[in-house]
Amino acid sequence: MVNVESFIDEKIEELADAIGDANAIIALSGGVDSSTAAALAYEAVGDQLTPVYVDTGLMRKGETEEIRDTFSYMESLRIVDARERFLDALSGITDPEEKRHAIGEGFIREFETVAREVDADYLVQGTIYPDRIESEGTIKSHHNVGGLPDVVDFEGIVEPMRDLYKDEVREVARALDLEEIISERMPFPGPGLAIRVLGEVTEEKLEVAREANYVIEEELEEYEPWQALAAVLGKATGVKGDNRVHGWIVSVRSVESRDGMTARAQELDWETLQRIQSRITGENENVARVVYDVTHKPPATIEYE
Ligand code: XMP
Repeated sequence: MVNVESFIDEKIEELADAIGDANAIIALSGGVDSSTAAALAYEAVGDQLTPVYVDTGLMRKGETEEIRDTFSYMESLRIVDARERFLDALSGITDPEEKRHAIGEGFIREFETVAREVDADYLVQGTIYPDRIESEGTIKSHHNVGGLPDVVDFEGIVEPMRDLYKDEVREVARALDLEEIISERMPFPGPGLAIRVLGEVTEEKLEVAREANYVIEEELEEYEPWQALAAVLGKATGVKGDNRVHGWIVSVRSVESRDGMTARAQELDWETLQRIQSRITGENENVARVVYDVTHKPPATIEYE
């Protein structure tokens, strides 16, 4: 991207050309990528665009309310409560790639339902360059690229940011005057908390992950990590009060990166780590242990699945 202003003008024109007089929908996740793509597409075609936010139940704490507030200026905004459908679709699945596919398929079906209702022919997506590279290789499929079902009922898919890196997307977001909560927000994966709970997705694990991720985002803000997260790994023995318990192990991860393709585990001070540990174990009686992940990418990935 040479110049942010000309990039924006060019993309708005491209979107307007591609969509023409038709209607389009965009999947809004609340992250910077989809929000920026939505803002560009809204500039291009206005109310012909219906932004759709699917509440999968796999989102961060308070995210649905934030979306409602931030995008209320777009009158066509739809918020779909699909929490039960996603939990049902994920029930019994333990393989990470199968999870991604189930979620990708779930998303696209939800969009198709709205697309039919608003008679939309186009799907706008916030896919960025690293998403495509990782999906083309064998690293793992991203739900919004490799996990798409084979038959997609749209005339076209438009990806205005497919050649950008994350820091360039943030530049575009700032130039478009998107709120800071959006433009500076840590990346959050499309499959959400489902890939931060190992093995089968259950409501109990999701609740532990949701609260722990909230603590991490709060406590690590001053470190300005590229991404920080908590994952629920499994169970271990612990002692709560006078009793031995079999509680969850929560892993804390904080990394520095430019584009997510490689990353370095961040060095945190002991006090911060202990405060995180005490909040996570204190706020949830079912958590027995908190561990810190010191692995870089490679050999690890940023997410756990
Ligand atoms: P990994 O775990 O592969 O993650 O090192 C690199 C970056 O991509 C995000 N990520 C995803 N984003 N769908 C997404 O939209 C996915 O399936 C997905 N998997 C990982 C991850 O959060 C990190 O920012």
